[in-house]
Amino acid sequence: MRNVTLTDIFLHPSAQKYLDRSGLVHAISTAYHAFSLAKEHGVNPDLATKAALLHDVGHYTWYTNGQWDYSLYKENDIHAIKGAERAHKLLIELGEDPRKAKEIALAILLHTDSYLPQGQLQLLPLQRVVALADEADEEPGGLHHYRKLDKSTALNRIKNLDRLVDAHYETQNLKHSV
Ligand SMILES: [Fe+2]
Repeated sequence: MRNVTLTDIFLHPSAQKYLDRSGLVHAISTAYHAFSLAKEHGVNPDLATKAALLHDVGHYTWYTNGQWDYSLYKENDIHAIKGAERAHKLLIELGEDPRKAKEIALAILLHTDSYLPQGQLQLLPLQRVVALADEADEEPGGLHHYRKLDKSTALNRIKNLDRLVDAHYETQNLKHSV
């Protein structure tokens, strides 16, 4: 049913590098929120969990003299643009369906309006679910980017979410076959 799993994505070298940079715990928590929200909003949980897991892979380290510089970040950040491109490349490399890769990349591009001159985006349901999932895990001062988790616990949480997504499809298929 799914030719690329969250586990495949998580184990990809590019994901390993960039998920760490913006916080693995935040990425995984956002993906779990996206799963629940996707079911609630009638959105495809496969696409929602993938976009949520990868939504922040475009972050760059804005430092001045070894210190995180929020004003530099605010001024120069394009993480949604960069992330959409990185996620799309990674998904295509893993063999994702190009239509799905595009939908996921668009949801990442539009998960925040903080980089736009003025907000007011008209979001599609998938895009809204990813934005809501991100907000659900945010902490004041950007602290959600700094929570720590060891790699094997992270992998177990990702595999568990894969099982939830697969189980969701199995129940959907059963409903359709009755
Ligand atoms: Fe985020």
